[in-house]
Amino acid sequence: MTATGAKPPGARDEAGAAKAVQQMFDSIAPRYDLLNHVLSANIDRLWWARTARRFNAILADPNAAILDICCGTGDMTMALLKRRPRGARPILAADFSRGMLSRGAQKFGAAAPDAPYAVLGTPYAIPLEADALHLPLRSESLDLVVSAFGFRNLANYEAGLREFHRVLKPGGQLGILDFSEPGGMLGKAYAVYFRRVLPAIGRAICGKDGPYNYLPASVGNFPPPSEMVSLMGATGYTGCAWRSYTFGIAGLYTATRAAVA
Ligand SMILES: C[S@@+](CC[C@H](N)C(=O)[O-])C[C@H]1O[C@@H](n2cnc3c(N)ncnc32)[C@H](O)[C@@H]1O
Repeated sequence: MTATGAKPPGARDEAGAAKAVQQMFDSIAPRYDLLNHVLSANIDRLWWARTARRFNAILADPNAAILDICCGTGDMTMALLKRRPRGARPILAADFSRGMLSRGAQKFGAAAPDAPYAVLGTPYAIPLEADALHLPLRSESLDLVVSAFGFRNLANYEAGLREFHRVLKPGGQLGILDFSEPGGMLGKAYAVYFRRVLPAIGRAICGKDGPYNYLPASVGNFPPPSEMVSLMGATGYTGCAWRSYTFGIAGLYTATRAAVA
């Protein structure tokens, strides 16, 4: 393994890395959705929808227990909710940045009478302030764990996979959507956009330098798909695979917690 976890600038250990990531997302939370859609030209919506579609069978089961970890402002959660039947068990949507989570909660909060998911029987999500590496959830309690663009930010990738494995039921499914670095000529052109243009746009909209320099750096530090798939296998998952989205700019890792441990 070349990378063990996120390395935000200035962080000296895992606790420092987690703190820096949490503070960074709290600081960009008010502009996060706008920046996301501008910087990805709305392709992110297709990626969330495609990820949700991959887990259709589980989402269609009203009793399935589902966690969207690192849910941020909740767009992955909303894509999952679209595929839940009426009266379905609520999705748990967890994040350790209160700034990000509180914005997500406004989208899927069943408590607000005018919220889109307030109608009786309409699927909704429960926001949960929690650290992905220390989930306040029972072992073997979930049918599906999904994470979109959050896993790469964990201070320890192996510990994250182990924690998801702990909370998944035997036979439960894992889906991790994240960026990767495409190869070839397209990869070279994309690298110019991702490493130069994107941080400049991010800086202009957000008024800060750090977060949008961190994004390409964190993708560069993230293990390539072949290494991630090996790590998933070594952590006790079966059927580990990666599927490229949009020429490999992003991709979905999928795996199953083995039915017999
Ligand atoms: C790039 S955002 C992605 C948000 C959302 N899933 C999306 O697709 O737009 C990454 C999120 O991961 C969260 N995160 C990073 N490390 C975390 C951890 N250890 N525990 C919980 N949340 C974490 C951040 O707070 C942030 O909201």
